[in-house]
Amino acid sequence: MIDPRLPLVDIHRHLDGNIRPETIWELATRHNIALPAKDLDELRPLCQIQNKTADLLAFLARLDYGISVLADTDACYRIAYENMQDAKRAGLDYVELRFSPFYMAQSHQLNVADVVEATIAGCADGSRDFAIKHNLIGILSRTFGTDACTLELNGLLAHKDHITALDLAGDELGYPAPMFTEHFKKARDAGWQITVHAGEADGPQSIWNAIELLGASRIGHCVAAKHDDKLLEYLVEHNIGVESCPTSNYQTATVVDTANHPMKAFLEMGVEVTLNTDDPGVSAIDISNEYQVAKDVIQLTDEQLRQIQINGVNQSFISATEKLQLF
Ligand code: HPA
Ligand code: ZN
Repeated sequence: MIDPRLPLVDIHRHLDGNIRPETIWELATRHNIALPAKDLDELRPLCQIQNKTADLLAFLARLDYGISVLADTDACYRIAYENMQDAKRAGLDYVELRFSPFYMAQSHQLNVADVVEATIAGCADGSRDFAIKHNLIGILSRTFGTDACTLELNGLLAHKDHITALDLAGDELGYPAPMFTEHFKKARDAGWQITVHAGEADGPQSIWNAIELLGASRIGHCVAAKHDDKLLEYLVEHNIGVESCPTSNYQTATVVDTANHPMKAFLEMGVEVTLNTDDPGVSAIDISNEYQVAKDVIQLTDEQLRQIQINGVNQSFISATEKLQLF
């Protein structure tokens, strides 16, 4: 299923959607933060989704438990560090972790640039201690609006050289891409690459906007491309990567049933599809689970599974030399 002779990567993985329930409980206890659970066993089903939620926003609300315990920058450092350990334990050779520093900062009014700094340090130390390669993708959380995204962007730009790319996540329907063209121009001017959550809660126009207005070279989810043949041709022709996350797509009700996930059809058209976890802590999964689902439920062939492993490397935000070093 996972070919051990090929590198294993996860390039769409939110570190603030992968906070261990044990850590949430411990930080809440240490900082006297109230949680709607009397113990860890009661907390677990709240912060880990077992089935599907009503929609993307209901899914995203489950990330709030972990965010609510980020009382200081030490807590941010800790979850970043633990994310690197989790990535290593999952068998990953390389991981792109993304995070939204405004979201992480807001429940305890932390300074956004300080959150970025602590997250970078936690990942760097984890990378060293667990011997796993990584890069960081900064997120603008569109749900908080354009002004908050300006603060968020500035906090990320303060540590520009430690960030590889910029992403736009959150409420795709309520906060469409045209609102953020200036933010993404600044990101491209800073030399960052661009990936955008699009075609998850909204239709194909949202994907066109991510590419044409924001400069995305990869698209998170991209499920709605199934409705637009011209767009699929464009993705192939311009080598735009698709970051598929099938369990997340089921849990957010983006796909009604996983067996009909469009990633197999995309692959067969020549789209460079990659396979990823999105929010593994919240979804209670890891990368091996997604390969199992891709094989058993979406019915990818062994050849397609191998192709997906290679596509993940091809679409990674690293140099050609670094890609070769992964093999
Ligand atoms: N979509 C949008 N925002 C997100 C997601 C997602 O799947 N996961 C975490 N933030
Ligand atoms: Zn995501």
